[in-house]
Amino acid sequence: MSSTKVFLDEKEMPKQWYNLMADLPKPPPPPLGPDGKPVTPEMLSAVFPMNLIEQEMATDRWIDIPEEVLQLLYRWRPTPLQRAVNLEKALGTPAKIYFKNESVSPAGSHKPNTAVAQAWYNKQAGVKKITTETGAGQWGSALAFACSLLGLEAKVYMVRISFDQKPFRKMMMQTWGATCVPSPSNETQAGRAVLEKYPDTPGSLGIAISEAVEEAVSDPTGKTKYSLGSVLNHVLLHQTIIGLETKKQLEKINEKKVDVVIGCAGGGSNFAGLAFPFVLDKINGAGVDIIPVEPASCPTMTRAPYHYDFGDNAGMTPLLAMHTLGHGFIPPPIHAGGLRYHGMAPLISHIINLGLVSPLALHQLECYKAAILFAKTEGIIPAPETSHAIAATIREAKKAKEEGKEKVILFNFSGHGLMDLVGYDKFLHGELSDYALKDEELKKYTREIEQFPTP
Ligand SMILES: Cc1ncc(COP(=O)(O)O)c(C=O)c1O
Repeated sequence: MSSTKVFLDEKEMPKQWYNLMADLPKPPPPPLGPDGKPVTPEMLSAVFPMNLIEQEMATDRWIDIPEEVLQLLYRWRPTPLQRAVNLEKALGTPAKIYFKNESVSPAGSHKPNTAVAQAWYNKQAGVKKITTETGAGQWGSALAFACSLLGLEAKVYMVRISFDQKPFRKMMMQTWGATCVPSPSNETQAGRAVLEKYPDTPGSLGIAISEAVEEAVSDPTGKTKYSLGSVLNHVLLHQTIIGLETKKQLEKINEKKVDVVIGCAGGGSNFAGLAFPFVLDKINGAGVDIIPVEPASCPTMTRAPYHYDFGDNAGMTPLLAMHTLGHGFIPPPIHAGGLRYHGMAPLISHIINLGLVSPLALHQLECYKAAILFAKTEGIIPAPETSHAIAATIREAKKAKEEGKEKVILFNFSGHGLMDLVGYDKFLHGELSDYALKDEELKKYTREIEQFPTP
C-alpha cells in the first residue's frame, strides 16, 4: 500500500492563482449598477480597495501571489492530500477516494486562504478596518485571524441564530481581537429596518452583508472597507491554490486521471478552489465529472432561477447574474448543515449553465450519516458543510462498486466540525429531519426579483 498522505514542500507551493475567466468559452454577464449598466471599478471603490477590484475584473489566466501573501499562507500551507483508505474499506469500494484537507488551517477551514490575501491587499491600500458578515462563524473567524496577523481592526456581523447557538466561533473571533455582533443589529439602518418588521428573526447572510457593507461605506475617512468570504471572482481566485496544490500532489504519486471532483457549495468558494483547475481540463476535453453539492433546503443551483439579483438583503450590492433563491430568502431554521446563502457565485452559476459542472442537492440526514461514517473511519469530524461533499463522495464510491470500476474520486475536505457539535448532537438525538424547500416558498422569494433584468 502506498502512503496515505501526500505532502508538498513550501518551496513547491504554487506561486500564482488560476483565473478561470481567461478560459471560458463565453464570458459571464457583468454585474450591473443601479442604472442598469455594467458596474465600473469606481462604483465598487466605496466598498473594496482598488487592488482587489482589479482582481475581481481581471481576465489574465495567471495572477502572481505576492511574496508577503505566500509568507502568510506558509503558516499552514501546503495542506495535505489524503487518501481515505479506511472509508474505502468500510464501503467495500474499488474506487480510490482522495481528499484535500483544508481543515488544518488555524481557523479550521479553507476560508483563511482568501482572508489573508484580502487583509493584505486592504492593508496595502491603507485600510485600517474591515467589516464582514458570517453565518456559522467560519468566515468571521478566518477574517479575524487574518486581520490579527496584519494589525487591522475587524468587525463581524454574525447571523443571529448562529450567534446564539454557536458561541465558540464568536470566542475565537474575540481571541483574535475582532468585534462580533449579532445580526440584525441596532448598529445599522439595514439592521434596524429588519428588526422593526421582524423583531424575532433568526437573521440571514443577506441581512448581515447589508449591515457590514453599510458600516464600511458610511465611514467618512474611507479607511473602512468590506470583505466577502465567498461568491465574488477574486475570492474564488484566491481559493484556486487548493486545486493547484492538489494537481501537484496527484502528479507526485503518479495519479494521472481523476474521474470525479466534488465540493460542497454555499457561495461556491471551496468548490471553485478545488474544481476550477479541473474545469480547465474539462474545457480542454478531459472526461471528468465535477459536482458542486448543496442542501435540498437551500437549493440554489438545482432549483433556483438564473437571474440578476442583489447579493444582500437591503439591495446595497450591484446586481449579480446568478442562480438565486431571492435576496429576501430566510433559510428554514430546521436546517443544520450550513450552506445557506441565497445565491451562487456568478462564475459557478455560469459554468453550470455551460454544462461544465453538474450540481447535486442532498438532504441533511444523509449528510450527517456520511459525516459520522467519515469520523468513525478517518477520524476527523467534518464541518456540516463538508458533510455534503462526503455524502456525494459516498454515493459515487457506491456507484463505482456497482459498476466494478476503480474510479478516482477527489473531494474537498473544506473544514472540521469541532465548533459545530450542536448539529451533531441534534442529529444523534433524532431532532433533525429532512426538509425540501417548498415550491410556494421558492415562488414567494423569487417573485421579488422578477423586476430585475434576465441575463
Ligand atoms: C467548512 C466550510 N465549508 C464550506 C463552506 C461554504 O462556503 P463556500 O461555498 O464559499 O466554500 C463554509 C462556509 O462558511 C464552511 O465553513
